[in-house]
Amino acid sequence: MNSLINYRCEGPLALIGLASAPVNALGQALREQLLEACERAAADASVKAIILHGEGSVFSAGADISEFGSPASFAKPDLPSLLTRLTELDKPLIAAIGGLALGGGLELAMACGYRVAEAGARMGLPEIKLGLLPGAGGTQRLPRLIGAAAALKYISSGEPIGTHRAQVLGLLDWVAPTADSLLETAKALALALIHRQAPGRPCRPCRPNWPHPTPGTALLPGYFADYRAANQSRWKGQSAPQRVVAAIEAACNLPLAEGLAREGELFKEAEASTESEALRHVFFAEREVGKLPGLDTGTSIRPVNRVAVIGAGTMGGGIAMNFANAGMAVTLLELRADALERGLALIRKNYETSVERGKLTSEQMEQRLALIHGTLDYANIADADLVIEAVFEELAIKQQVFRTLDEECKVGAILASNTSTLDVDAIAAVTRRPQDVVGLHFFSPANVMRLLEVVRGAATAADVLATTLKVAKRIGKIPVVSGVCFGFIGNRMLEPYSREAHRLLLEGATPAQVDNVLTSLGMAMGVFAMHDLAGIDVSFLVRESRREVLAHDPGYCKLADALYALGRFGQKTNRGYYLYEGRERKDDPEVVALAEKIAGELGIQRRVISDQEIHDRCVLMLVNEGIQLLDEGICQRSSDIDLVWINGYGFPVWRGGPMHYAEGLGLEHLLERIGHYREVLGGYGAMWFQPAHLLERLVASGKTGVERL
Ligand code: 3HC
Ligand code: NAI
Repeated sequence: MNSLINYRCEGPLALIGLASAPVNALGQALREQLLEACERAAADASVKAIILHGEGSVFSAGADISEFGSPASFAKPDLPSLLTRLTELDKPLIAAIGGLALGGGLELAMACGYRVAEAGARMGLPEIKLGLLPGAGGTQRLPRLIGAAAALKYISSGEPIGTHRAQVLGLLDWVAPTADSLLETAKALALALIHRQAPGRPCRPCRPNWPHPTPGTALLPGYFADYRAANQSRWKGQSAPQRVVAAIEAACNLPLAEGLAREGELFKEAEASTESEALRHVFFAEREVGKLPGLDTGTSIRPVNRVAVIGAGTMGGGIAMNFANAGMAVTLLELRADALERGLALIRKNYETSVERGKLTSEQMEQRLALIHGTLDYANIADADLVIEAVFEELAIKQQVFRTLDEECKVGAILASNTSTLDVDAIAAVTRRPQDVVGLHFFSPANVMRLLEVVRGAATAADVLATTLKVAKRIGKIPVVSGVCFGFIGNRMLEPYSREAHRLLLEGATPAQVDNVLTSLGMAMGVFAMHDLAGIDVSFLVRESRREVLAHDPGYCKLADALYALGRFGQKTNRGYYLYEGRERKDDPEVVALAEKIAGELGIQRRVISDQEIHDRCVLMLVNEGIQLLDEGICQRSSDIDLVWINGYGFPVWRGGPMHYAEGLGLEHLLERIGHYREVLGGYGAMWFQPAHLLERLVASGKTGVERL
């Protein structure tokens, strides 16, 4: 077996280095070798103190996530028992934390009697983001070190704790000024401990009010009940936050050994939950995304230092902010001075709001604003490495902009379009360099939303794709590669999902009923609330551009067209599918009456629609389109689709995205239900309820996951 541990002695010190690249995930093999090394040091009479450290830049990112749900997760030595054994050693054990100590990595450090970290190290217990709770003593040892209230705050949010705060709270004994001085600091600490014959574990003051971080104030009775009551609605259907609270409550009420046992039970439940399975799926999906055949570490990357954005409207301004936020200079080009002024003023206003909310200091705001320059002249962007066009959504206008870019920009510049519906190939075709053209579809608000669809045109060069993927990560986006088609991945799937919701209104459902079913599923917003927010006029214009494709369905989104004709554009006019009074949303009987009228004209029989039918029809059409996209090669893998819908459309992350959710429902079940609605919905069913061929092939071959065949 390869050695995952470096063991060496320096005088009375044993140094045990974790060497399991890239992040020292505590998988079974590393656990076994770590235990052996610690026992060796414990048994060696010449060793008086032990230092645990990471060989690379990282201490440990915790348990090996890929082991969860498999026997390897609890294969001996399991992490909780290993850490308990470390707490029994009678020599000082010092964790030297470089880079990061997350999850089981921090639990390992907490099992050591003493902890020193390099300044800038990141520590935390992010298990909740995987639908878990710390399962190797974290929920019991952290409250005992820093108090229950502080522990609850960090464990229930999963947010990292900086070194300064960690030292103030009592999690760290020492902070080394730099990464280079970490080991030296740890050694000096170890020698000092030996010198004063310090015990293996320090005797920390045992206050009767130990659960609370502030001496002299105990947790109020009812603290946990109040905490649950205050957070219940925010947790929606998720169980991990409940388990975290239960475990920390156990830390307050039970002796350590019993608390650890309770934590173990809760962890097993969490590991087996569909919620954690879904969140683990998303973790690996985020690491897979952007890995494409033909692109590897050998693919050359074009340098991107100077960025330009064309159009200072809603999207252009937000896109420019992304680059400024990442410390990159960006030039914003407009057609007219007044539009440029408006755009720059909006950017300032957005930053000012962040300052008011305490998310940014005034100084940071000024630094970011100083990176954004406005211009009306293409000569000022001639040397840009990356240009992103965000002008009006009209092919002719965009093509004209690209002709100009082709004339004005330097050779090798990447020319990107933020189009949400237009053909990227038709835009590329007007240039003499289609290989340099790519789609970069940001989502609104562009400075907030993490999703970025990277649209690969027929001619887009591999290095252009690789460079844009890299730039996307630099500005904190999740880049998902899509081929060229109407709506790319996200909006193309939105279309049948939204169409089905509209049809249900004609058949007898109300906007509120449909939206409630979708928000009960966990969607951030129902489809009609979303259309009201985005603008009914916007989706009308999209339908206008493709009437010929939709002509065979006379009822297609007819209610939406009728609302548009009435000038009910949604929130911007205070009337859409709902009525808006200030921030309050109300049902509107007029919309139901309109639906009844249209249904009558089309001869659609109205009836009571069950919530189950709403769920099935919307979800079936959504995932069927996703499977179709995979079959057409528009997207690379099914988990990419999950990321698009989680990060761009508010699909609940704890359900793992629509494709993962569909796999949970069962592919055979999906196919059967599509067939069922094709039958019962008559002509309409025959028109739209056609299973993707890939779905049929997957079921025929007994597959349970959505993959290319
Ligand atoms: N287990 C398994 N693999 C892991 C891992 C982990 N805990 N953490 C990272 N990796 C893998 C990634 O999958 C990736 O693999 P790949 O190269 O094959 O795609 C590789 O390490 C590098 O990871 P990133 O691409 O994410 O690198 P970054 O530098 O961007 O981020 C990180 C590093 C901050 C450590 C990030 O990977 C991360 O947040 N990891 C998860 C940390 C975490 O959630 N820890 C808790 C685990 S659960 C636990 O400990 C339970 C315990 O209480 C019992
Ligand atoms: P907008 O109307 O707010 O802004 C467009 C800006 O482009 C205006 O300021 C206009 O003056 C400027 N402009 C027009 N022609 C120009 C030219 N030839 N040269 C320089 N500037 C020019 O539009 P918005 O919403 O920002 O949309 C821009 C693009 O982003 C569109 O392609 C749209 O489809 C896409 N998009 C929009 C989203 C949204 O939610 N608004 C989401 C994702 C993509």
